[in-house]
Amino acid sequence: MIYAQILAGGKGTRMGNTPMLKQFLPLGKEPILIQTIEKFVLEERFKAIIVVCPADWVTHTEDLIHKYVTDSRVVVITGGAERNDTLMNGIAYIEKTFGLNDDDAVVTHDAVRPFITKRIIDDNINAVMHHAAVDTVVPAIDTIVRGEKDQASEIPIREYMYQGQTPQSFNIKCLKKAFNQLTNAQKAVLSDSCKICLLAGEEVHMVRGEVSNIKITTPYDLKIAQAIVEKRVII
Ligand code: CTP
Repeated sequence: MIYAQILAGGKGTRMGNTPMLKQFLPLGKEPILIQTIEKFVLEERFKAIIVVCPADWVTHTEDLIHKYVTDSRVVVITGGAERNDTLMNGIAYIEKTFGLNDDDAVVTHDAVRPFITKRIIDDNINAVMHHAAVDTVVPAIDTIVRGEKDQASEIPIREYMYQGQTPQSFNIKCLKKAFNQLTNAQKAVLSDSCKICLLAGEEVHMVRGEVSNIKITTPYDLKIAQAIVEKRVII
């Protein structure tokens, strides 16, 4: 079975002061989260589409889904303090509700990347059939400089640098095993889910994302997203 998991459990602090969490903000005619869910509902291969949000936003999320999405595969559950806690809450829900087979996989996606395309979802599904972990990336446009405070320590060759997007897709049993191997210290600093697999010695396969598959993180990103939905920018 293949499941989709939409990660909507964040607090959006980099967005600054907004009337509600950024994933629930309107973008054109519909909230950002709804536009993301709608892309996943189009894919029939998903057995369930699990939306994971903060505990005090569950009722609001259910109301939105009731209003905008008519697909009984979409369920809402509670997320965790860190992004990977949210991810693992979704995995626990899948196991408890459907059981777990060796080839079960999950395609996980940021709720705040509403411009995901069918091609990217297809490529993730196809790749996770053959690989334990899949990351969606675009080649780095800027040179990446590694450093701390005001001191640069390394400037890697740009040809080998990519920017990570989502979806990130996993064989669920492999992901669980890799996560359980991590120390608490490793879990505390892990902001990326594919890194769970890399630290456990698993290979991570890369598929091509799109520059337009932006993550709405800051007020500037929100302006770009608004320009896209209003077709002032064509993607
Ligand atoms: N996310 C999540 N659970 C968390 C943290 C993040 O499901 N505990 C989700 C967010 O809702 C978002 C995605 O992961 O859809 C990417 O997170 P990002 O936007 O980088 O983080 P936020 O915590 O939402 O924002 P910030 O870092 O600015 O506080």
